[in-house]
Amino acid sequence: MPSLADIRSRFPSLSGSTVFLDNAGGSQLPGCVIDAAGAYLRESYVQLGADYEVSRRATSIVTSAHVFVETFLNARGPTHDLGRVVLASSTSLLCHILAWAYAESRAAHPQGRRNRIFVSTAGHESNIGPWMRLAARGFEVIPWKPAQNGNGDWDLNLSGLRAMLDDQTLLVAFPHVSNILGDIWDAAEAVRLAKAAGARTLIDGVAYAPHRAPDVAALGCDWYVYSLYKVFGPHMAALYGSHEAFAELQGPNHYFIRNDDVPYKFELGGVNHEGAAMIVGAADYYRFLAEQPAVAGTPPRDIFSRAFAVVERLETELQAHLIGNLLRINGLRLWGRTSSGPERVPTVSFTLQGLASRDIAVALNARGLGVRYGHFYSKRLIEDIGLDPDDGVIRASPIHYNSHEEIDRLLDELRRVLR
Ligand SMILES: Cc1ncc(COP(=O)(O)O)c(C=O)c1O
Repeated sequence: MPSLADIRSRFPSLSGSTVFLDNAGGSQLPGCVIDAAGAYLRESYVQLGADYEVSRRATSIVTSAHVFVETFLNARGPTHDLGRVVLASSTSLLCHILAWAYAESRAAHPQGRRNRIFVSTAGHESNIGPWMRLAARGFEVIPWKPAQNGNGDWDLNLSGLRAMLDDQTLLVAFPHVSNILGDIWDAAEAVRLAKAAGARTLIDGVAYAPHRAPDVAALGCDWYVYSLYKVFGPHMAALYGSHEAFAELQGPNHYFIRNDDVPYKFELGGVNHEGAAMIVGAADYYRFLAEQPAVAGTPPRDIFSRAFAVVERLETELQAHLIGNLLRINGLRLWGRTSSGPERVPTVSFTLQGLASRDIAVALNARGLGVRYGHFYSKRLIEDIGLDPDDGVIRASPIHYNSHEEIDRLLDELRRVLR
């Protein structure tokens, strides 16, 4: 396994004094990803699809970015091809495009008579609001609320879903991991339940993908969305859809672009080219994590699995250190599981009795610690768990490249602020 010093040396920004603990907001970039943008802008900055050499190269980079993400998500491999990936600027935009497409396609697709959409309110608003708006377009949109389980932890509430699903259900939209609680939810079981009712599923994997390589083949979902800028990539996002799910929809791009020209039919104005180069440029970093030589081409899925096994190992130790020590602080309440095994990711939110999250976060910021406070756009969840959304929680979200010393700095400064 590569050493932490080796890992950190790959990220130019980590040589400064800031402690980056807002990685659930966005991750730092390895040098190979930064360099890929520069190389593209210097050598390939032309329009796609023409037959001269530079344009052929640019086209191949953008195509490779799609293949890269499809492989990362295990949507494609030597023996399978489950679907395609649409690239855009953000998960928020992709969920809007998808909701728009469902509304436009209602009459056309075979599931047209199905009218009900269940939307988990436990996640980020980007995968809630666009579906709620479909209520104005003739859909019955039903909030699916989280619930507390026997341990007092808030979870997705699969039994609630089981009780609601019926043969009118068109779609079930939910998060894989809460960007507040950090718990990994049983997305595969939610998909199984939805599928048994004949419904499609959309998983928001934004808070999951920086910590584990999502596996759409194993999940069996129809749609999976995540933000690349939180997974060592450009400010872009990706939406996987199965071939069957795409075939039911009308894409938003121009009328003369065929509907089966996926992903282009869903990529209005194309994609960010230098961003696509950055996606491909991350290959070297994954190969390095997986301890494989840097060779050209899309890494096979196995490289991603091995790289994320390293990520998981480092993060499990890191979160144990963080959570174990936070729980020793008087008056501190941790939201999300207090265990620190593979059932959660190191996105750790807490409040302090009688103290404003804002005051604590601002004081920590002044001491060079990059944490944040608030509802993190999971406003409905924050309200459901009984917190004031204006103040919300303090969130520290380390990632595999953070060190135990950085966690110690956070803990020391927090204790100082509380004195
Ligand atoms: C869990 C989750 N889903 C969705 C989003 C929205 O992603 P984007 O900023 O790409 O729209 C975020 C952003 O923080 C998030 O944390």
